[in-house]
Amino acid sequence: MEPIISINALFKSYKNGFMALSDVSLNINKGEIFALLGPNGAGKTTLISIITGISIPTSGEVKVKDFDVTKHPIKTKSIIGLVPQEVSIEPFETVMSSISFSRGLFGKPQNLEYLKSILKQLSLWDKRNTKIIELSGGMKRRVLIAKALSHEPDILFLDEPTAGVDVELRKDMWKIIKSLKKNGVTIILTTHYIDEAEYLADRVAFINEGKILIVEDKQILINKMGKKTLSIKVDKKIINIPEKLHKYKLEISDNGHTLTYNYNINNKTEITNLLNDLSNENIRLKDIYTDQSSLEDIFVKMVN
Ligand SMILES: Nc1ncnc2c1ncn2[C@@H]1O[C@H](COP(=O)(O)OP(=O)(O)O)[C@@H](O)[C@H]1O
Ligand SMILES: [Mg+2]
Repeated sequence: MEPIISINALFKSYKNGFMALSDVSLNINKGEIFALLGPNGAGKTTLISIITGISIPTSGEVKVKDFDVTKHPIKTKSIIGLVPQEVSIEPFETVMSSISFSRGLFGKPQNLEYLKSILKQLSLWDKRNTKIIELSGGMKRRVLIAKALSHEPDILFLDEPTAGVDVELRKDMWKIIKSLKKNGVTIILTTHYIDEAEYLADRVAFINEGKILIVEDKQILINKMGKKTLSIKVDKKIINIPEKLHKYKLEISDNGHTLTYNYNINNKTEITNLLNDLSNENIRLKDIYTDQSSLEDIFVKMVN
């Protein structure tokens, strides 16, 4: 995989001495959706601000397509679009003039066909002559994305794209983000919603108190760290677990009527053995179901 952004030993302390980022190193690959996941105050917006040239690092290096963000800020900013966490747009402008203005800020010649294509993709073409103040909250969020894409960036940052939006709007945003990826845009999003990262991301980084805890392919992370539990409802009350079943470290619950077995996702043959051994002990099954730990369980475990 080819990195489009590389971050090396990045530190950021604010004027008051607060260390918001501490030794952050990671690469973002071309074409991926990368989720930066962490609780409020973890340092997500700080990291985005440095990559997008809004804020200056205390030390360390960030390169966007091989250009250093502090040495070549005009170049790197032209490659990046940012949908900021704090929303502010000119209320009395029309949609079209607002995104056309954003494009102009980057010194790009106007390209109506391109602006039309992004407005269509974001279902805003019919609203192109509507004033922003007259749009719904969901449409305003889409205008912000259109503005961020107006200068044809290769990389799009979305800082908390669904913070404080309702469920339906969140699903819309997810659809839009997936469709942008299909166009070849590299997407970095921050979120404190684990389900969002779980649904959208190809790779995930956990950040907490300014430090990156892990960077991993999402599925590999779930497979590697995830545990599954098998719950077995049995036909008669179990008070003591028979000697021959001790090796499975079963837990008794449900007043003796359920046995729970924790196993690693990669070790499924053990289950066959367990079921055989239960049968040999004359324990009959009434019902059986499995449960898998999610990104959330893994994150909570790492942060603690
Ligand atoms: N300008 C600033 N001066 C001092 N501290 C700041 C400033 N901006 C952010 N912080 C602090 O840095 C930490 C990280 O903030 P931020 O990057 O906004 O976190 P996140 O986006 O993950 O919620 C927080 O503790 C925040 O209070
Ligand atoms: Mg933030």
